[in-house]
Amino acid sequence: MNEPSTRLSRRTLLLATAIGLGGLAAPAFAAKRKKHEPARKAAPTVAGTPLTYPKLIDLRDGDTFDLVAEPATHAFLKDKPVAVIGYGGTYMGPALRLRRGTAPKVRLVNRLDRPTNVHWHGLLVEGRFDGGSHGGVAPGGDWTARLAVDQPAATLWYHAHVHGRTAEDVHDGLAGLLLVEDPNDAVARALPATWGVDDLPLVLQDRTFDPDGRPLYEKTTAVLEHGFHGATMIVNGIADAVARVPQRLVRLRLVNASGSRTFRLFLEDQRTFRLIATDAGLLGAPVDLTYMALAPGERAEILVDFAEGGTALMTGPDDHEHRSGARIMTVPDVLAAPARLVAFDAVADAAPHHTVPATLAALPALPRTTAGLKRRRFELRVEPGVDPHAAMVHAGMDHAAMISGAPVARSIAPLAPVAPRVTINGQVFDPGRIDEKVDFGAVEVWEIVSPEMAHPFHVHGAHFRVLGEDGGRPKAWNTGAKDTVLVENSAELLVTFASRADQAAPFVYHCHLLEHEDGGMMGTFTVA
Ligand code: C2O
Ligand code: CU
Ligand code: CU
Repeated sequence: MNEPSTRLSRRTLLLATAIGLGGLAAPAFAAKRKKHEPARKAAPTVAGTPLTYPKLIDLRDGDTFDLVAEPATHAFLKDKPVAVIGYGGTYMGPALRLRRGTAPKVRLVNRLDRPTNVHWHGLLVEGRFDGGSHGGVAPGGDWTARLAVDQPAATLWYHAHVHGRTAEDVHDGLAGLLLVEDPNDAVARALPATWGVDDLPLVLQDRTFDPDGRPLYEKTTAVLEHGFHGATMIVNGIADAVARVPQRLVRLRLVNASGSRTFRLFLEDQRTFRLIATDAGLLGAPVDLTYMALAPGERAEILVDFAEGGTALMTGPDDHEHRSGARIMTVPDVLAAPARLVAFDAVADAAPHHTVPATLAALPALPRTTAGLKRRRFELRVEPGVDPHAAMVHAGMDHAAMISGAPVARSIAPLAPVAPRVTINGQVFDPGRIDEKVDFGAVEVWEIVSPEMAHPFHVHGAHFRVLGEDGGRPKAWNTGAKDTVLVENSAELLVTFASRADQAAPFVYHCHLLEHEDGGMMGTFTVA
């Protein structure tokens, strides 16, 4: 029975060598171990930095939890601590777990030198507690949100949402996990749920580091237009991460907290994984996949069976297409080949094995016709501030380097960044304007159109189902309840409005490519 695992590791090695990453150190490590000692059972088999998980905090009815935004120190790269900002003094803030049927409070305390706020991405709360683009907390101030939870179990997240600087703030570290659990959902409770053991939160991001391990970020023309893409993948803030997993079924909670990168996910040995949940909760039934895309803002929960040994979570290049009239330009990712997000080192443990339930949530059937439902249309546009080809020619360098935000040797003076005009229905975000008025309790069809490039479209205060994408059926990973969806060309969404928001604190909908959001690809709506 040695054969399969031998083949597996050779294949993994070959891939790692071909890819030339994280895998880098693996052959050397293996050789070293052979020379000095026989493999001990607990010895790590994969080189890298042990993955750590954010601290899990249960919030109970009557609690007021202080979430402090403050400066912190963090090592993205091993032994290279740098200054960051974060919640609770950590780069990846605490994971806050909420129970359905309770209403704890969270007090945001601002110990930064600039205004901040916090938005509960995916949580259905009233507009005044949503922490969207309206309102901010001055340095030294605080703000308390009451989080009355009434929605299915799901993996959500929280992040800063100050208009015009969300990209930088999230890049600097103002993000964390938010979990909803439902004590009455027997299926959800039967899933692997031991935090950091068989229930692993994996917050996926990308950064470009200087030699001291400091993340670099610059709003160049290309970044403003296409979004920032980092060259190094990080998970829970750690590059070259290795996670220890038991040799059984493990739940991975995947969160895309990058500014612009769509993760193109697969397992290194191509093994099948089971998608069980998306943004807003469990699917009707598990879906077997070998690949899925996860756009900025989106979440997915997958089950991976490690009984056959370890593997790694990989992401492929996120090249993107930019269409301008008849001209289609492909903007290559700074990541030219698949890269490891995290390697899994599988070790035996004595805990009982979980099985995959055949059915998960009782999702309502989609309506056979949407005739009679109120429809709204949103066109997301990017009109370049400069001709992209001219900018490339002027810069005399490859576009991938441009979008990485990394400093590049330039033989000629760089063009000053020119912001593209990013709009929804021809308008740039105006916090003082109400763009749409929705009736409380309404179910509507929202049609989203992306003429130039794919945009991850996100709605605050509401969940939706994807009725169709690009004129066809939704992709397998877009069949559940969601709050964010990558709109390649067009998508039709069935949106349910179950939370209220008034004119003083309306909800927003926006592109979750953070430079686009900051540039004004965002609108407001009330629900009353
Ligand atoms: Cu992740 Cu407007 O939010
Ligand atoms: Cu683009
Ligand atoms: Cu966008």
